Amino acid sequence: MTTKKPRGFTPGQLTVHADPGELRAVTRTLRVAGRRIAFVATMGALHEGHRELIRHARLAKGASVTVVSIFVNPLQFAPGEDLQRYPRPLEADLEMCREEGVELVLTPGVEDMYPEGADTTVVPGPLGSELEGAVRPGHFAGVLTVVAKLFHLVGPDVAYFGEKDYQQLVLVKKMARDLDFPLDVVGVPTVREPDGLALSSRNAYLSEADRPRAAALQRALRAGASVSARGPQAVLDAAREVLDAEPALDVDYLELRDPDLRPDVQQGKARLLVAARLGTTRLIDNTTIQL
Ligand code: PAF
Repeated sequence: MTTKKPRGFTPGQLTVHADPGELRAVTRTLRVAGRRIAFVATMGALHEGHRELIRHARLAKGASVTVVSIFVNPLQFAPGEDLQRYPRPLEADLEMCREEGVELVLTPGVEDMYPEGADTTVVPGPLGSELEGAVRPGHFAGVLTVVAKLFHLVGPDVAYFGEKDYQQLVLVKKMARDLDFPLDVVGVPTVREPDGLALSSRNAYLSEADRPRAAALQRALRAGASVSARGPQAVLDAAREVLDAEPALDVDYLELRDPDLRPDVQQGKARLLVAARLGTTRLIDNTTIQL
């Protein structure tokens, strides 16, 4: 197909837009020209898990342009959380995008996304106050607000989110459905270190001594999954035993829910979710379970 090349876009090359309005003009022109857009929203500090999301986006059926956003969203951090120390290695992030054939990156500033007086937000349903939302009040309102804005700016046909943040994935899917966003939201399995630790930008905070302790989360999930035929209580007990054996971990929750995160699952497909603190670092992980 011959497409008129919009300004701010060079096929086969990475173009970085700091201005959301400029990026929106480019993606609008591409859409009008019949190009399908695949999108990956990130807060930067890109790792192999993000690379996997980008690869899925590049391979999306019929999608011809991949857009990545890099924005550390202050709205999803509570006071006292790690907003200030969140890693921001922009050059390395852009290098990964280049390596993976991303053509458009959006790197807005806080004032571009939230100009003075902008105070309208997306309110999640009750699930937004459970699990992570119970420990981090307001977190998912911040996530959904920025994701809604990014969906409007980028106008993707399909967007990829990691299963590592499983509750985020469920809530973004639900928002897209409830608020009629015309796109598919697709989950991508978690990428892990050889010892099982789920990749996360926050792993950069872990000391050498903490690394093996952090992998206890994945060991707990595996222990739970290994006794899934014995029912929900056996799964929770087996996982809890592994967590209890690692005294450095301060567990926030260990829960078994259905794939949409409704509680009291007794049989069929389920999700086992865990969150714990290791010193000042918060870790989350989850796995699918067949009860
Ligand atoms: O998963 C993340 O990195 C963030 O929560 C997201 C989806 C980019 C929104 O800021």
